[in-house]
Formats: sequence, C-alpha cells, structure tokens
Amino acid sequence: MGETETTGPVVRFEHMTKRYGDVAAVDGVSLEIAAGSFVALVGQSGSGKSTLLKTINRLIVPDEGQVMLDGGDVAAQEPHALRRSIGYVFQNIGLFPHMTVAENILIDRRIAGEAGGGDAGALLDMVELPRAFASRRPTELSGGQAQRVGVARALAGRPGLMLMDEPFGALDPLTRDTLGETYRRLHERLGMTTLMVTHDMAEALLHADRVLVMSHGQVIADDTPDGIMNEPLPEAAQALVAVPRRQAERLVAMERAGRKAQP
Ligand SMILES: Nc1ncnc2c1ncn2[C@@H]1O[C@H](COP(=O)(O)OP(=O)(O)OP(=O)(O)O)[C@@H](O)[C@H]1O
Ligand SMILES: [Mg+2]
Repeated sequence: MGETETTGPVVRFEHMTKRYGDVAAVDGVSLEIAAGSFVALVGQSGSGKSTLLKTINRLIVPDEGQVMLDGGDVAAQEPHALRRSIGYVFQNIGLFPHMTVAENILIDRRIAGEAGGGDAGALLDMVELPRAFASRRPTELSGGQAQRVGVARALAGRPGLMLMDEPFGALDPLTRDTLGETYRRLHERLGMTTLMVTHDMAEALLHADRVLVMSHGQVIADDTPDGIMNEPLPEAAQALVAVPRRQAERLVAMERAGRKAQP
C-alpha cells in the first residue's frame, strides 16, 4: 500500500480559548502534536474534548488564540477544503440509509466533484471489510461494520490528519478492541496524525503514543501511556487512571490464582 502513504501534519494550539457565555469550554490551551503521532484525548464529560477537536476543522471557531496545521493558521483556510483534507469520525457515524456502502464511502469526493471514485474496494480492504459489502445498504451492517465504513469514508479523501470523537464508543468491548487495533495499524501504515477522543482510558493507553487529560477546558496531564500509568498525576486525573489500573491488577491476580489452582 506504498502508494497511499501520507505524512500527517503537525497540529499546534496557541493560547486557544472557546467560550460559551461564562464557561470556557476550552481555556487557553497551548500544545503541539507531532506529525504522525497518535494522541488520545480523555477527560470527564463536558471537559472540552469535542470542542478542542472541532476547532481543528473549523466546525468551531476559537474566541482567542490559534490552531495551526504545519504552521498555517486554519482560520486562513477555506472551511470546506480544510474539512475535506481532514478525516473526521464520530460516534454513530450516520451513514445515508438510501445509499450503498460504496456510495457512502465516496460521498465526500462526489460532493467535491472529483471524477471516478472507483476505489471503494481498496478502502474496504483498508478497514478489513469484504469488498462484496460495497453494494450493501447500511441497514445490512452490524454496528461494528458500520463504524468500519465510517472510517473508510474518512479515509477516502486520503487525509493526513484524522480526528476521531468517541469513534468506537457504541460498540461492544471485543469489537471495539478489534477495530481499535485495525485503526492503529492504519494510522501507522498511512503515516497519519491522529487525535482520538475516548472515554475508555484503557483504549487510550493501549493505542496512543501520548495521552492528554482534559479538565474544565484545560489540559491537566500530558504524557506517554507509560508516564500516565506510572508518574504522579494531578488529583482530577487520578480517578481516570485508577479504574483501568485496578482492573489490570485484578485480572493479573485472577490469572495467578487460576495458575495456582491448576494441578
Ligand atoms: N453549543 C454549545 N453551547 C453552549 N455550551 C456548549 C456548547 N457546546 C459545548 N458547550 C459546553 O462546553 C463544555 C465542553 O463541551 P464539550 O462538548 O467539548 O465536552 P466533551 O469533553 O466533549 O464532553 P463529552 O465527553 O460529554 O462529549 C461543556 O460545558 C458544554 O456544556
Ligand atoms: Mg464530546
């Protein structure tokens, strides 16, 4: 798949703030995301994750500060062209029910007036779905399959940058895990920069190179998965890590007990 290789952009926030009335949904965030890195964004509901993500493709315009892609302010770019160059995957992907899988995958390119678009098959390969699915309707897919189609649609514009907002949130844990693995491989193979919002700390720790924890519009922790698990964290971030840590400890303990019980 060498022909599909891209290099994702550097994403940079500079003192970026977005307010709704008195509430700063994002409160003066400054940070840089390296080209080709996979960054997970975690934090409690309402902490500003989706708002932060949407300022990148201009679905939301900051009140202060800037968002830059490879050094260029997104505010200077034409919004539709910008959005077409960025893959965007969200929960309950919302496929068009009257269109086939192939038509859904290529929809953004049709809107852009691009000719051809005969490569839905290659995109189905990427997300590990059978090519025969191209002619199916969304109602004939499982939730996990539909989410794969959503990822394929986001990849159709060959984006260097993927924004994912709880992309696998509605799926059962096993499907979620498999799809997360598929996506992590794609991220690497295509050389993309990925920013993924998730409520699942374990998912963040397992797939990302770097984890950002948000609270009240600010990034309160920013570290590698190893650092997040093993370094001291601010109070507000501790609860997020306590759950997967406790689960991991219990699973290890169960495994040990099981081994002992064997003859
Ligand atoms: N359109 C809006 N109008 C007013 N307030 C908003 C709007 N969108 C978001 N907010 C507020 O901004 C804050 C951050 O919202 P945001 O959607 O970014 O949170 P989130 O971290 O994505 O939460 P969740 O995990 O529940 O999706 C919240 O307090 C929310 O109520
Ligand atoms: Mg959100």
